[in-house]
Amino acid sequence: MKLWIPFAISAGSLLTIASFVGAGWDAPPVESTQIGFRGTGMYIHRDVEKQEALKVANVVPPAPWQADPAGDKARDLYENVQVLGDLSDDQFNQFMASITEWISPEAGCNYCHNPENLASDEVYQKVVARRMIQMTQAINVDWSAHVGQAGATCYTCHRGQAIPANYWYEDLAPKPAGGMTQNRAGQNVVAKFGGNSSLPQNVLKDYLLDAKQIRVHSTTALPTGTNLTGTKQTEATWSLMMHMSESLGVNCTTCHNSRAFNAWDESPPQRVTAWHGIRMTRDINANYMVGLTPVFPEHRKGPEGDTFKVGCASCHAGVQKPLYGVSMLQDYVDALGKKGPTEVPDFTTYQPGTTQRMAAAGAASPTAVSPAATANDPATASPPSETPAASPPAETPAATPPTDAPAAEPPAAAPPAATPPAN
Ligand code: HEC
Ligand code: HEC
Ligand code: HEC
Ligand code: HEC
Repeated sequence: MKLWIPFAISAGSLLTIASFVGAGWDAPPVESTQIGFRGTGMYIHRDVEKQEALKVANVVPPAPWQADPAGDKARDLYENVQVLGDLSDDQFNQFMASITEWISPEAGCNYCHNPENLASDEVYQKVVARRMIQMTQAINVDWSAHVGQAGATCYTCHRGQAIPANYWYEDLAPKPAGGMTQNRAGQNVVAKFGGNSSLPQNVLKDYLLDAKQIRVHSTTALPTGTNLTGTKQTEATWSLMMHMSESLGVNCTTCHNSRAFNAWDESPPQRVTAWHGIRMTRDINANYMVGLTPVFPEHRKGPEGDTFKVGCASCHAGVQKPLYGVSMLQDYVDALGKKGPTEVPDFTTYQPGTTQRMAAAGAASPTAVSPAATANDPATASPPSETPAASPPAETPAATPPTDAPAAEPPAAAPPAATPPAN
């Protein structure tokens, strides 16, 4: 007698029942918001249970105290203040207290400083932090078309952690055993930066670091030979769109009318904001993150040796407006809402533990251990960003000019998350 058969059947049935009753496979309560005309399918769906957790995770911490803008300037009081020199003493101290809470609440000041010599740049985290101050200033000044009045602070990304929870790096693993002879074009593995789909896995490099074209639609019913994009580009675009949707906790209709994904005049205004966001993220990665590669130790890099880079989730962390659009910047306008000196030191000469003072490339520095002055132009490490903040989508192919993009731009900064497109 094959006794195991009835046992296997009953175990199987029990498992099936259990999976429906106990395993949390039930459809979650979903909240739907209509964002367009009735009958056009323009809805945003949100998992109600997740919303509670997101609300708790997105509370803005208050400033430790209101800083007094009057008094001596930091540049006159301290030895090695290269970016924040314009702050008053009180503002400078408030900012140091705040970044400690934002970046290293447990390790404290010493996460970035040698307590014996606060002016020294020997701790690599301080060198990174100074560049991140310049980066955050650029986000707020150059990219107001994206971050609006809310702006960004270190907390937008860091949230009390030295390494933000959401970043990406070049994702090529697992490599096929046959090397170059077997090319799966980055597909059929879990694309962890592409919404855990099996779409191409390494597309953020093309779109959020390099400026590869994100246009795949044909505008004619029959091929005319003008649109050369094929399945490969379409899948790569889709993978990026999965990253963007996941990062904001939204679905495609937040930015597109699915009747015509390409049509700017039918898209909600959020798409224009997102268009600027893509350019801003490229600027952050190409001009700030990549340049810091020599400063970061190996364990702060991805398996291919590149620095961790910023994606939409770095700031958005699963919500449509980071921190629900509440501005933290207002308490730090002088530190992060305007640009200080923008010189970039030559990071390739940096030696952690030894370099006492980073100097802007080209500037002679009395205490630099390694010669920072080289023939290098500061700009060589950082290709100029592709477009100024407010320019219309200029690289649009002639076939699909998003003519309404600039027009739709001003309201994009203002309306609350659920505002329907003007209709
Ligand atoms: C996340 C890194 C970080 C943390 C944490 C941090 N600092 Fe700083 N600190 C910096 C950077 C970067 C500068 C240089 C700013 C510039 O060049 O404009 C600086 C400069 C200073 C200076 C000026 C020193 C000089 O003579 O040039 C003082 C004083 C200072 N910090 C005090 C503190 C104190 C006190 C704390 C803890 C409450 C603290 N810092 C926490 C990054 C940090
Ligand atoms: C747009 C997102 C973003 C913003 C805004 C941002 N950072 Fe960062 N920061 C990152 C990412 C991503 C890393 C990790 C890079 C890596 O490890 O390769 C990082 C790393 C760091 C590190 C190095 C930590 C370590 O232990 O290696 C310091 C220090 C730091 N940031 C300070 C700051 C400060 C200070 C500010 C505000 C002036 C700031 N950051 C704003 C994204 C951001
Ligand atoms: C946060 C806003 C946003 C979300 C969410 C979003 N998209 Fe996009 N999408 C854009 C923007 C902006 C562009 C144009 C990018 C550019 O030109 O640089 C675009 C471009 C596209 C294109 C190319 C259109 C063309 O002209 O060829 C397709 C296709 C597309 N998206 C599909 C999707 C799909 C499918 C989803 C859901 C999985 C989605 N998008 C979610 C903002 C979004
Ligand atoms: C440096 C942080 C940062 C990064 C990185 C970032 N965003 Fe944003 N984003 C913001 C802020 C801040 C706002 C809110 C602006 C406001 O309140 O006016 C915003 C708003 C938006 C909005 C408008 C939401 C609405 O309902 O009005 C969209 C869409 C958006 N971002 C998409 C993206 C996409 C797509 C990416 C990645 C390509 C991205 N963002 C990367 C900070 C960021």
